Amino acid sequence: MTAPAPVIHVEGLSKSFQGKLAVDHVSLEIDQGDIFGFLGPNGSGKTTTIRLLCGLLTPDEGTGTCLGHDLLREAYQIKRQVGYMTQRFSFYEDLTIRENLDFVARIYGMTQRQDVVDAAIDRLNLTDRQHQLAGTLSGGWKQRLALTACTLHQPRLLLLDEPTAGVDPQARRDFWDQIHHLAADGITVLVSTHYMDEAERCSRLGYIASGRLLADGTPQSLVAESELSTWAIDGTDIHRLGDTLKSVPAAQQIVPFGTRLYVSGTDTAALKSTMDAIARKPGFQVHPVSPRLEDIFTRLMQRQEDTQ
Ligand SMILES: Nc1ncnc2c1ncn2[C@@H]1O[C@H](COP(=O)(O)OP(=O)(O)O)[C@@H](O)[C@H]1O
Ligand SMILES: [Mg+2]
Repeated sequence: MTAPAPVIHVEGLSKSFQGKLAVDHVSLEIDQGDIFGFLGPNGSGKTTTIRLLCGLLTPDEGTGTCLGHDLLREAYQIKRQVGYMTQRFSFYEDLTIRENLDFVARIYGMTQRQDVVDAAIDRLNLTDRQHQLAGTLSGGWKQRLALTACTLHQPRLLLLDEPTAGVDPQARRDFWDQIHHLAADGITVLVSTHYMDEAERCSRLGYIASGRLLADGTPQSLVAESELSTWAIDGTDIHRLGDTLKSVPAAQQIVPFGTRLYVSGTDTAALKSTMDAIARKPGFQVHPVSPRLEDIFTRLMQRQEDTQ
């Protein structure tokens, strides 16, 4: 049996705005049912890449397909099969819940609009509140409505641009449960986020900085491929210890976390001897841990800055 064609397959996509490169030769392959997490600092090119992938922007360079359609020539077909939740605008705050969903159904030219909207409101458990203005919903409910609106036309691919920014932890967790349900139904999801707990819930991750895709793989493979070693130090006075470690070259990253200090570096041998010395002091427990995604992404950024 041959493997199904990837849902997204792009090569060398680039896009400049006013002569400034926003997306720099990005190549990417995403398979059906993947939850692809897209990470990177503000201004690194996440939104621009997402807009290139769904045919909303035309690349200056590069080729590719999305859902089997050519990015350059078949943008219209792509747009119809993609659900896109934009970074800021999700729906009209001054329309009711029902009016918003009905509006989306009209845009997609859906027949049996009323049935589709009724079913969506029922799934949301919002039948009693369907005539409430969308702008009066809480942050978590707004995200649920936005996700419902962008899945109304049963897209095969969802592009979610920082969907949970500013949403409380419980609502973020519920939102991610929904994403996993959608993926289990075979929908492919590309989701940009700044939250590391969300990154850990993705089947694959891409890290972009200054328009370049610096890493791409499963969370496990990114950990395995990183050249980082990380140690955790537990103790009562880890902040002072952290300050003294700043003068140790092998301790490239020092991150306090409550009563724990995470120390990472690429010179494993030198870092280990530093850790052995700390372990001999009273009041500290030292043990090697797997590098955290955050440490890995910080390292990728440092490495890129070093080469510039
Ligand atoms: N429509 C636009 N016109 C001009 N510059 C843009 C436009 N969209 C994005 N940019 C620039 O492209 C770069 C990447 O932006 P963006 O893709 O929004 O990054 P991210 O989503 O990762 O924050 C930034 O420098 C941004 O200012
Ligand atoms: Mg953005």
